[in-house]
Amino acid sequence: MHNDLAADAIAVAPIVDPAHARPHATRDEYRSAVEQARGAAAAYYAGEQNLLDDADYDALYARIVASEREHPQWRTGDSPTAVVGTVGGDVEHSSPMLSIGNVFNSEGLRDWAAKLDRTLDRPVTRYTVEPKIDGLAIAARYTEGRLTQLATRGNGYTGEDVTSQARLIAGLPQRLSAPVTIEVRGEVYMTDTDFAKGCDLRLAHGEPVFANPRSAAAGSLRAQRVYDVPLSFMAYAAHGVPEEHAHSHSAVIDHLGALGVATTAQSSAGLAVCTDIDEVTAAVAALGARRGDLGFGVDGVVVKADLTADQEQAGYSTRAPRWGIAYKFPADTRTTTLLRIDVQVGRTGVITPVAVLEPVQVGGVVVTSATLHNFTDLQRRDVRAGDTVYIRRAGDVIPEITGAVPDARPADAEPFSPPEHCPRCGGDIDRSNLRWRCARGRACGEKATLLYYTSRDAMDIEGLGDKILDALLAAGHITDAADLYALDVPTLAAMDRLGTVSATNLVNSIAATKARPLSRVLTGLGIRMTGRTLSRRIARHFGTMDAILAATPAEWEQVDGIGSERAAVILAELAEVAPLIAKLAAHGVNMTEPTGPAATADTGAPADSALPLRRPDGTPMTVVVTGSVPGLTRNQGNEAVEELGGKSSGSVSSKTDFVVVGDGAGSKATKAADLGLPILDADKFARLLAAHRAGDLTTTTEILTTLSR
Ligand code: IVH
Repeated sequence: MHNDLAADAIAVAPIVDPAHARPHATRDEYRSAVEQARGAAAAYYAGEQNLLDDADYDALYARIVASEREHPQWRTGDSPTAVVGTVGGDVEHSSPMLSIGNVFNSEGLRDWAAKLDRTLDRPVTRYTVEPKIDGLAIAARYTEGRLTQLATRGNGYTGEDVTSQARLIAGLPQRLSAPVTIEVRGEVYMTDTDFAKGCDLRLAHGEPVFANPRSAAAGSLRAQRVYDVPLSFMAYAAHGVPEEHAHSHSAVIDHLGALGVATTAQSSAGLAVCTDIDEVTAAVAALGARRGDLGFGVDGVVVKADLTADQEQAGYSTRAPRWGIAYKFPADTRTTTLLRIDVQVGRTGVITPVAVLEPVQVGGVVVTSATLHNFTDLQRRDVRAGDTVYIRRAGDVIPEITGAVPDARPADAEPFSPPEHCPRCGGDIDRSNLRWRCARGRACGEKATLLYYTSRDAMDIEGLGDKILDALLAAGHITDAADLYALDVPTLAAMDRLGTVSATNLVNSIAATKARPLSRVLTGLGIRMTGRTLSRRIARHFGTMDAILAATPAEWEQVDGIGSERAAVILAELAEVAPLIAKLAAHGVNMTEPTGPAATADTGAPADSALPLRRPDGTPMTVVVTGSVPGLTRNQGNEAVEELGGKSSGSVSSKTDFVVVGDGAGSKATKAADLGLPILDADKFARLLAAHRAGDLTTTTEILTTLSR
């Protein structure tokens, strides 16, 4: 890259390493790439929807740099590598606001550290690891404790005066807690919550929603609007700090915090102090795993030599400090085509719009569908089939569509019309909540409910497939699970594709399930907020269905894994299915749970293949646990992997399915990052285990879906 400063001045720092980018074949191709990059940068500056997503911009930029290396004579003053910020330029910075070098993997990080050790001629004393906030750099001057000037970074030497906007920025007080004269540097950004609020405000004013939090922050800092969009600030450096607080970066940051300024250390990401590069890589991996849960956007991690003495000795190269480096994460927002909008109806009747997408890599995962939240949100955002949409996936968050690129809309794109009737049963829709539901609730899903009752994890009725169920429902022979027990051979034999022999077998296999343990019956009822494991626990706890139906809320809370909220839901659901239970009992379905050693024969435990850490073919996933998992010993961590159906392993290889990274993780986390393996934060692993034990399938699935590569 020729000019890091300029790259950052247009605020879209390249992530693609130019050393590996392909130069353009002709000058014309190079020129049109320059034009395209300038257009995107201009849109970015105006706070408009980006014409290119980050990854595409970075790739474009890298090729421009590569071409200029190969053909220096092609380069003109309008290249994005030469262009500096278009902002006011009326504040001169006290010292240049420099950029920082980038690495993209832990090998790069180790190379940087090794080079720094060589420069110092001794190992770096300590490092700090903090979030690289995805916003824009500003400098805030305080004179005797009062905020006197706020300037954007601009071209690094002079920036635009945005002092009047300071009132919008949380974390940057008008007055410090002490009357010091100091310059604070940091990032202005928009939190995820404020981004959502800001989008709503824009819609309310008839303006298009923001493209992403960063361009929203950039636009809002400059814009004079009739409405105010909240912004936030986080400090990562300062000049003029009194000597007693200036011996290290971490001390400077602590001092700023004490003065009342928001800092990276106080953020949900925190600032880690590490003694060696192994600790650094583990901290980088741990932060990466939490990326989606921080509440604000980070595009990487910044690693710095902590001691001021080390920093001073290392100094600067022509354009960036040698004492610090940015480890960039893969882009978490990309654009792709929205192929169509499907409407899904859940087992309990909840109706949701789901986006079907042209497959796209986002943050290392191929995404083919994404949530559109609810119909109100979808209509407000006016997302249409055929649109080019922004897909955001960060950490564990389910991929979501944050908006559409307006200029890319095909002329014939039709606005989406929400369903007038339930797409499954054709009945009315209950729109009283943001989440629409079929007015018939779970009755809408008769077939889904029946399929669940007959499934392997519940009553496991052999020979009763999808097609026969359809035919039985269509003929009106059954409406619920209990009706299955009333079916006789002549009725079944009279149906298509079933002869007398098959009909007799089916009647027998249905009848045989009457003896199944209570836990399976309970599972088959599909009570919300329970699953196989929790149903088993409930059945064991109460012993009989009568005891279950008679239990008070307080008694429910005695069951391991059931709190007051869950108890209330279960009670309401049981009341709803009480008539079905009575009907099943009248058909002679067993309503007791066997106790004692005999119970092990069929406890209703989930089939092994249904355990969370099983691959689709039923084989166990290989999982490595490194560092500590909250609440578990090392042994218990490995046992937990097995309890979840996985195989725990002590070494990381390309065969590892994922790595659980906790506090104190070392070289295994580094290796996992190098191999590009999915990483699960130890806290989340603990949550996964708790959810599994509680039979909370929604949460286990949610945690695991984001792991797939
Ligand atoms: S330290 C000498 N720390 O990333 C420059 N920068 O390319 C020292 N940034 O322009 C910068 N979070 O706008 C630093 N925790 C952090 C940061 C951070 C975001 C931005 C900053 C800078 C760019 C580096």
